[in-house]
Amino acid sequence: MINLVGGRRKIDLAATRSSAGRSDSLFIVIIALISIATTASARAEDWGMGAANRQIAHGAVFSPVSTPANSISVLAWFALAITGAIFIAVGGLLTYSIIRFRARPSDEPREPAQLYGSNQIEFAWTAIPLLIVIVLVLTTIRTIYDVQAAAEPPNAIHVRVIGHQWWWEFQYPDLGITTANELHVPLSEPAHPAPTWLELESADVAHSFWVPRLAGKTDLIPGRINTMWIDPHKTGVYLGQCAEFCGTEHALMMIRVVVEPRPAFDRWVAAQQLPAAKQDAVAHGLQVFESNACVSCHAVKGTSARGTFGPDLTHLMSRQTLGSGAAMNTPAYLKIWVRDPARIKPGALMPAMNLSEHELDDVVAWMVTLK
Ligand code: CUA
Repeated sequence: MINLVGGRRKIDLAATRSSAGRSDSLFIVIIALISIATTASARAEDWGMGAANRQIAHGAVFSPVSTPANSISVLAWFALAITGAIFIAVGGLLTYSIIRFRARPSDEPREPAQLYGSNQIEFAWTAIPLLIVIVLVLTTIRTIYDVQAAAEPPNAIHVRVIGHQWWWEFQYPDLGITTANELHVPLSEPAHPAPTWLELESADVAHSFWVPRLAGKTDLIPGRINTMWIDPHKTGVYLGQCAEFCGTEHALMMIRVVVEPRPAFDRWVAAQQLPAAKQDAVAHGLQVFESNACVSCHAVKGTSARGTFGPDLTHLMSRQTLGSGAAMNTPAYLKIWVRDPARIKPGALMPAMNLSEHELDDVVAWMVTLK
């Protein structure tokens, strides 16, 4: 609407001008229509994600809730304060000089006195920037050391993070849990520290794990294990994103980190450790799943499905989203996803299985029971 009104006002103004103005206004109308059309289509096809993500408190790097993110934020403000002060000092002196010493009509038409060489001034403008650089380098090194060289804290929860095109696998080796895209960690209070230690690997290309409010970015490199840690001291859901271009669906390789008080986290762990729910009413759906190629990519504990190429689906419905943050995890979107994943996530490596309508309904009815 705003585009349309803005566009129309410009057209009215343009109409009073020449014919060149008229072609300008046509151009504006076309741009306005395209922007309305693209906004509308983007809104129609965000599969519930826009509304869901708006519920999550944002704030990114400047509202940290975990020690590594906090160290980075303090350093960022410090560097911003120093460089901001330099900008104001230099910009202020420049503005002052331009105004105070501008050419005036009363000036004599000759060059001003030329001054050469002043050891004191030259020493000052070499030494002061050097000192500033040394201070910035030392504080940065200290922060990098605090964040990256930290030893693995005792009693940490261990999580293996494996980057795939285009989703995240989270394994808790000590707890016997494998899940995807939504990382659950306990709240870490000063009185009861409960940090989480992440070991990051890649199954294919380079990715980067980045949840701005919890920590800086850490790359996931094929054939290498990188480590990082978080100790969130506020409960909630934190959004993250793959931060290294990794192919077609890099943009839809989102992360949700769910930080819960210890008792809630323990309940989540206990539920995730169970095998998949079994219900006779949806037995045909399971049969469809087991007799198709689904099982060569997905694992479901308690069934014959042991694939590891795609996400573990044992507790699929305990997750908020599908396709690594591509759609909200509702039965309706799940059906669209199983019918043709590319409709929600173009380029997704899961193929459309070409199930009949009846098979599709049954397999989705079974998947909905995977709580
Ligand atoms: Cu994974 Cu970008």
